[in-house]
Amino acid sequence: MTKKYNVGVLGATGAVGQQILTCLGERIFPIDSLKVLASERSVGKTVDFYGDLLKVEKVGPDSFNGLDLAIFSAGSEASSEYAPIAAKAGCIVIDNSSKWRMDSRVPLIIPEINPGAMKKHKGIIANPNCSTIQMLVALKPIYDAVGIKRIVVSTYQSVSGSGYKGVKELANQSTSLLTGQEAKISVYPHRIAFNCLPHIDSFLDNGYTKEEMKMVNETIKIFDDKNIKVTATCVRIPLFYGHSEAVWIETGRHISPEAARELLNRAPGIVVIDDPEINRYPMASDCINLDEVMVGRIRADLSCENGLAMWVVADNIRKGAATNAVQIAELLIKDSKLMKTDWSD
Ligand code: A2P
Repeated sequence: MTKKYNVGVLGATGAVGQQILTCLGERIFPIDSLKVLASERSVGKTVDFYGDLLKVEKVGPDSFNGLDLAIFSAGSEASSEYAPIAAKAGCIVIDNSSKWRMDSRVPLIIPEINPGAMKKHKGIIANPNCSTIQMLVALKPIYDAVGIKRIVVSTYQSVSGSGYKGVKELANQSTSLLTGQEAKISVYPHRIAFNCLPHIDSFLDNGYTKEEMKMVNETIKIFDDKNIKVTATCVRIPLFYGHSEAVWIETGRHISPEAARELLNRAPGIVVIDDPEINRYPMASDCINLDEVMVGRIRADLSCENGLAMWVVADNIRKGAATNAVQIAELLIKDSKLMKTDWSD
């Protein structure tokens, strides 16, 4: 008989949390019991899990007793407070927030790229930033074949990256503006409807945003390559779901666009859509509810001897968050040696 697990989802009422529940069911994760947790705002609410209405519980210090693993998507503050409590209670945490990603005790995992790094976990495993995940899934085959020295990326990120509140903000502002009313601003520092904001997360002293530096630092950690150079500009665009990225790379050795296309075609988790003559290229509208990273517009970077340019698209809530987290959970239960915690502060 397949072993079944006691599973928790923290942030189960949120945009990613809801998708985590969908992915757990879709992928037939072996669940014995499922506990859905959120803040006290959600007390009294239920969430639907394939026809079962589950009562949302307010998270607290005792919430993780008896759980084998929990997937967190409730922001950094909740992760900071509850991930160590859970790990010490014997519940392995897969965390979607940025809180633990750069902690040396915490593996940062994309299952297609560095599953071996899971071995070092002590009870907390981090899910990378959505924009990092889709970029690195697309670049991994090229990195392995010819090396990558430098990455330049510009992102076009949808508002669902800010959770349901981002989705509501864009819907409300668009409705207001299209009906001649004033757009109310509450989530972003400026209007997002009919606009683009070169600003995601807060600004740092070096002029970059935290989101941009996540792409830099997480790439180095996931590829385990201190020499790789990364620079990013992250832009919020008025789109509900799906992130797109223009990516330029300088490779270690020359690779033609044809050879790169061939490599990507054979790689797990990637779909190549690259036939510009008939207007075929990946678009955010194509990737919704899919787990694959879509890559197209693969071409030589004419400004650089060993350069390639490409366009990378994925569902930020699926492969960028929920699917990747559930894939990590699948890796965990595949190897009983990984089902342990020894977290200490
Ligand atoms: P709640 O619905 O009770 O506020 P989104 O990313 O769509 O904004 O969702 C965030 C998720 O994280 C929601 O489920 C939200 O619960 C949950 N959440 C946010 N802050 C906390 C917190 N401090 N403790 C527990 N859950 C939280």
